[in-house]
Amino acid sequence: MPKYVPEPFKIKMVEPIRLISPEKREAAIKKANYNLFAMKAEDIFIDFMTDSGTSAMSNHQWSAMMMGDESYAGARSWFRLKEVVDEIFGFKHFVPTHQGRAAENILTNLLVQPGEYIPSNMHFDTTEGNIRARGGRPKNLVRKEAYNPSERVDFKGNMDIEKLCSFIENTGVENIPFGMLTITNNAGGGQPVSMQNIKAVSELYHEFGLPFFIDACRFAENAYFIKLREPGYADKSPLEISQEMFSYADGATMSAKKDGIVNIGGFLAMNDDTLFQNVRNELIIREGFYTYGGLAGRDLEAMAVGFKEALEVSYLDYRLAQTAYLGERLIEKGIPIIEPPGAHAIYIDAKSFLPHIPQAELPGQSLSIAMYKQGGIRAVELGTVAFGYTDPDSGEEIFPELDMVRMAIPRRVYTQSHMDYVVDVLTEIAENPQALKGYKITYQPPLMRHFTAHFEPL
Ligand code: F0G
Repeated sequence: MPKYVPEPFKIKMVEPIRLISPEKREAAIKKANYNLFAMKAEDIFIDFMTDSGTSAMSNHQWSAMMMGDESYAGARSWFRLKEVVDEIFGFKHFVPTHQGRAAENILTNLLVQPGEYIPSNMHFDTTEGNIRARGGRPKNLVRKEAYNPSERVDFKGNMDIEKLCSFIENTGVENIPFGMLTITNNAGGGQPVSMQNIKAVSELYHEFGLPFFIDACRFAENAYFIKLREPGYADKSPLEISQEMFSYADGATMSAKKDGIVNIGGFLAMNDDTLFQNVRNELIIREGFYTYGGLAGRDLEAMAVGFKEALEVSYLDYRLAQTAYLGERLIEKGIPIIEPPGAHAIYIDAKSFLPHIPQAELPGQSLSIAMYKQGGIRAVELGTVAFGYTDPDSGEEIFPELDMVRMAIPRRVYTQSHMDYVVDVLTEIAENPQALKGYKITYQPPLMRHFTAHFEPL
């Protein structure tokens, strides 16, 4: 039996959840055109749709919010946040943004021209969307093991350095405005990136004169994996490890809705003075003045406390163990997941779970609908619906290599018995996977279709 590390907190306030009847679940999902994003959250029992903005804040964060200074410019809360961000991330400049994609929007708007390429280990969907919205081309160059779900290797989120090198040489530096790296790799199973790899990526980008931006959403979890798994880091604190990770980069995009343990917030950081001036101007047009960036002063306070709490060893120990507990129990039941478990989510390998449903018939979508119908669980398809696209050159429909259903675990929200319940529901589905059928898309928008598409069972 995998180990469940007791929650390093007790619960002072509760939010009731309820499991509506199977008939009501059937009607609710149908009414939502079989898109779990279109459902009423009240009709969900266990909500594993995302770990983003769904975490429980601590008593320290709530009390800090009461200290929020709502001054338009130069608020006390801005200086408190700045102190923490400077300490952990260490970039010369940063601006708050209301969430991660706002940072991506500003960065891509300023730096990406049509036809230009942005390499990364794997971009997340909003980063891809922002690059494509400027006519740019996101390029994923993660190590090949990332595409083999059952292969257990450490740091499966690492960039393939050789591939990155030949990609830059073949594409030409003049067609690449900057390079990225996502830690942990959300689009590829939430797998961490090693310090050695971050360093190698940095050296390579810099050798070609390319600025290096880290997508830092889950930096604390990545730092803790380095502490646990990478030689030489066992005695370093997650803070020291984070400081080293960011010392290799020229900037970062951050969604504090993840490892800031807040419900809203983020930032864009950079060392370059000219870029900072341009970013500030963009921010003022689109988000707000550069000392609040579309957030309230109290939100800045909650982020300042949250970034530090996310780096506490007792918290990270529980966080990684809770996710691993869910993952290892599913493996015990024969349910295929991306191995080893990451920190923020467990990804079910829908292609292996439902081999009778071809990728064009959306196995991940089918499984996520079945999880809701069976047990009121909301997970999210991260497969053909989320990452499939029409190639702009050939007009061909491109399927992603992985077809997954992600169960993202909000921070400090669910307990061991919730995890056991989820295992039971999936075990019931696994008893007769043949009962699940494929789906087809009946409506889709041009970009980021998974959020608003309509589906019908085949
Ligand atoms: N980068 C990564 C790696 C992400 O996982 C996300 C968000 C973003 C950028 C964008 O941040 O939502 O604050 O605008 N991921 C969420 C998720 C939505 O469910 O994984 P945002």
